[in-house]
Amino acid sequence: MEGIKLKVAIIGQGYVGLTIAVSAAEKFTVVGFDNNEKIVTQLNNGISHIEGVSGETLKRLITKNRYIASTDGAEIADSDVIVIAVPTPLTPERKPDLRYIESACKTIGKSLEKPALIINESTSYPGTLRNFIKPNIEKFSTLKLQHQYAISPERVDPGRTDFTQKNTARLYSGLTTEAAIQTREFYSSFCDVLFEVSTPEVAEAAKLFENTFRQVNIALVNEFAQISHSLGISVYETLDAANTKPYGFMKFIPSAGVGGHCIPVDPTYLATIAEEHGAPAKFIRLANDVNLEMSEYIVGRVVEDNGGSLRGKRVLVVGVAYKANIADVRETAAELIIEHLRNQGAVVSWHDEVVGNWKGESSSPLQGADIAVVVTKHDSVDVEKILACASYVFDTTGKVSGSHGL
Ligand SMILES: NC(=O)c1ccc[n+]([C@@H]2O[C@H](COP(=O)([O-])OP(=O)(O)OC[C@H]3O[C@@H](n4cnc5c(N)ncnc54)[C@H](O)[C@@H]3O)[C@@H](O)[C@H]2O)c1
Repeated sequence: MEGIKLKVAIIGQGYVGLTIAVSAAEKFTVVGFDNNEKIVTQLNNGISHIEGVSGETLKRLITKNRYIASTDGAEIADSDVIVIAVPTPLTPERKPDLRYIESACKTIGKSLEKPALIINESTSYPGTLRNFIKPNIEKFSTLKLQHQYAISPERVDPGRTDFTQKNTARLYSGLTTEAAIQTREFYSSFCDVLFEVSTPEVAEAAKLFENTFRQVNIALVNEFAQISHSLGISVYETLDAANTKPYGFMKFIPSAGVGGHCIPVDPTYLATIAEEHGAPAKFIRLANDVNLEMSEYIVGRVVEDNGGSLRGKRVLVVGVAYKANIADVRETAAELIIEHLRNQGAVVSWHDEVVGNWKGESSSPLQGADIAVVVTKHDSVDVEKILACASYVFDTTGKVSGSHGL
């Protein structure tokens, strides 16, 4: 791979795609392809919508002709490397939804005018590269080109600064040896550690298992929070005590549930493919239920502490992002908490200046409530102000000492 001469197209300019795009653009010429015109216009004006990618970086790369965003398939026709980084959510029936991947395959198949290395970074079940992406691109390819296919599941944790795309080991595998060699060359120009596995299916499964491990352990600690409360002991003190063991224990902390694009979603991809193959996925299904039920448990505790009714009470939900210090609200536990509070007759508003606007509502001031429920505690939000915003505060994060909580 010859440095800047290589042309790279990244399909999808969201959390994963834009982050990869700016890293790759330090070495290569990059087209950030996205079908959202508003995002493309913003990016070409040097405005980033993703934490961790600055407007200054974008402007510098645009000025050096290393980066351009586009909605036009013709811009990717002569690419040497194509990276797929589009969403892989669940359908309303909570089944894997590969529509975005299918549409990316259509763009690639119809647009590419020369053989390329096609790498999937989107999370999906084992077999997606071999049985879905390759046949779909071939189906839409009018020129019937022979591409190389590889997988390199993205492991980035948005907002994290100690482990990034650069220094987190990158798994990869190709459908052919040539694809694996080219993939290694591509990523080694901007990633420190590469780890090849024997088949794409292993890489795809490893990514799903990593997030399933977290989902199951979060469910376990969420159940343990309920057990601790019923026994009248502090879950946090108990976890700290257990964590003094230097081996065989890993500390997870309880929460209002799991959010984001990965933990609530990826395990269901694994469970679905397992069940399709006749294998059990009992743990995964149960963990999902426990995490989803946390919101109901928390609202139940708030009701119990407030005389058995929330009717007419002004309840402020503090923090609606799915985790601290980022603006991402996908699958946030705040949504279910708000729903349960409203079902109890509460008058609910929310405060989150990192998110700003969500579902047609704006962040409310951190004051004047009867009850506050802290779902996510951003570093920028002052604990004293949270404690002062309502006469009763229930904290689900373990960061607001002096309040009620898990
Ligand atoms: N966000 C994370 O922390 C993270 C971490 C690891 C893996 N992943 C995985 O990476 C993939 C992408 O996730 P994300 O968080 O970057 O999503 P995102 O929603 O932030 O961005 C996806 C982008 O793709 C665009 N898009 C959708 N369909 C398209 C199409 N057919 N052609 C072109 N653009 C299209 C959207 O407009 C959007 O800008 C998913 O499979 C996700 O599970 C995400």
